[in-house]
Amino acid sequence: MSQADDHQGTRRDFLYYATGGAAAVTAGAAVWPLVDQMNPSADVKALSSIRVDISGVEVGSQITVKWLGKPVFIRHRSEEEIAAARADDNAALPDAFARNDNRDSALSAADENRAMDENGEWLVMMGVCTHLGCVPLGDGAGDYGGWYCPCHGSHYDASGRIRKGPAPENLPVPVAEFVDETTIKLG
Ligand code: FES
Repeated sequence: MSQADDHQGTRRDFLYYATGGAAAVTAGAAVWPLVDQMNPSADVKALSSIRVDISGVEVGSQITVKWLGKPVFIRHRSEEEIAAARADDNAALPDAFARNDNRDSALSAADENRAMDENGEWLVMMGVCTHLGCVPLGDGAGDYGGWYCPCHGSHYDASGRIRKGPAPENLPVPVAEFVDETTIKLG
């Protein structure tokens, strides 16, 4: 990738991150009036679970929401991304486990064990590099069409699996579920 391309990728990701920030504010605004009247231990409890409206997340794009002080990537994957992720299920994966808090911890890193739904349209992951905790760039960044952490050069694929670089594990999938067709609950 040329330097110019790399720069473009960085800019694109920033735009998505900014969009995600707006989504986070929406989620925060919904819980804020409640939190305001609660004592500190109760407000921590209230924030341990948030609902995210994903109706506006178009195919091939993602939002980033803040949950428990950390970024969470919610990506609406295109057919091409799903196919690319699944084609690499048998590639040499540095981390062989799904790292999905909703599933058995012994499950393999196959894409179907990481995606939210059977078709693999939705991928939800903590946006925290498993090396030293930086926020990776997304939107097809890196050598494997997924996420790229420029801090020390970790490349994640379209399933959020570490493929190259110092990060030891796949991007973790937090506790998450669909509460209806357009809402994902984190926590
Ligand atoms: S923190 Fe991501 S590569 Fe170092």
